[in-house]
Amino acid sequence: MLRGKKILIGITGGIAAYKIPPLVREFKKQGAAVKVVMTKAATEFINPNTLAALSENEIVTDTFPDASLSVIKSETWHIHLGTWADIMLIAPATANTIAKIAYGIADNPVTIMALSVRCPVAISPAMDTYMWENPATQENLSKLRQRGYRIINPEVGELASGLTGKGRLPEIKKLTTSIQKILDKAHQDFSGKKILVTAGPTYEPIDPVRYIGNRSSGKMGFAIARCAAERGAKVTLISGPSNLETPNFVERIEIETAEEMYNQCIKHSSKSDVVIMAAAVADFKPEITANRKIKKEDIVSNNLTLKLTKTKDILETLGKKKKKHQVLVGFALETDNEIENAVKKLNRKNLDFIVMNNPLKNGAGIGSHTNVVSFLHKNGTKEIFNKMLKDDVANQILNRISKLNRS
Ligand code: CTP
Repeated sequence: MLRGKKILIGITGGIAAYKIPPLVREFKKQGAAVKVVMTKAATEFINPNTLAALSENEIVTDTFPDASLSVIKSETWHIHLGTWADIMLIAPATANTIAKIAYGIADNPVTIMALSVRCPVAISPAMDTYMWENPATQENLSKLRQRGYRIINPEVGELASGLTGKGRLPEIKKLTTSIQKILDKAHQDFSGKKILVTAGPTYEPIDPVRYIGNRSSGKMGFAIARCAAERGAKVTLISGPSNLETPNFVERIEIETAEEMYNQCIKHSSKSDVVIMAAAVADFKPEITANRKIKKEDIVSNNLTLKLTKTKDILETLGKKKKKHQVLVGFALETDNEIENAVKKLNRKNLDFIVMNNPLKNGAGIGSHTNVVSFLHKNGTKEIFNKMLKDDVANQILNRISKLNRS
């Protein structure tokens, strides 16, 4: 699948560097040409000779490489490699390297190449969980995402430190698939488009420990975000509480309440070509949130009455602000008079189409991997589908948006 592709790998100094020789082998097996640049720290973990043998190419480990290297003309090696590569993969990418790239520092072969390549750059971070979660790292990654670097998110699992958490370099298969997807221009119909997707439930606090929520898992919205990113879109995913992994190349913004989701949607929607509202936003929230835990003994009777008030309808607000070229898609969760109710929402919220589903139908339950949906379009047409995987529903939604072809 990688036949004829030219892949430049940049290795930095992390223990996960041991996974790169088999990765080079896999790329070669799939027909790609591979060249490798390394930082000095990376050579502490893996011997350049191993990579030279597997890639069948010379390895650059120094900013001023040995003039005896034949393929690489020593003083212009970065220009040579920069124009040669179809894609650059930096793996493992340490927090240090990510920070340097974010600030345009070019002080070793990997950071020099990150600045000088003309091709897409995929960054596969691998580090200790605390380093990954550190706001400095996250801020740097967010900068890089915005600049179009493709971030391959690390996995959760056992780390070299003995701790378990997020930070593992994905396995060879996942890295290879990610690279294939980036290179696969055939399905990049959303390239250059900005898509805003919402997912998951919202939690409306009653007091510091209790909330009103719903059983949405976020699976539908996450599937849309993942598929849109795979088709080349720049995706922002605003998600309520969900245990799901952030899909690769997706920027995730976490919120808890309907109010927070509203604020983030308002902030990001005007810059988006497409907005897909798959979140199960709470319609009501407690009118008052107690700032101390409500104690049983303080409730004299057997009943605690909570007064609820309506939340703002995010989609309706976005429908009113909708720009001419923007596509707006909503969901309708209906158990009765499905079509009639969904059409009312479609019109009231000024949508291009609405994805209707009835959670009582077999295969459409909340949290399930499948869904049973119908699309109701602004022009009055209806499409009724059988049970599908949520990934397939996601791609069907994207196919319809792609056909609207506004830009
Ligand atoms: N939605 C929203 N803001 C809300 C409630 C819902 O943006 N406060 C969005 C949902 O994300 C979905 C669409 O509106 O895309 C319809 O949501 P749904 O719960 O089916 O309908 P509601 O408009 O909330 O009406 P009802 O609950 O009475 O069916």
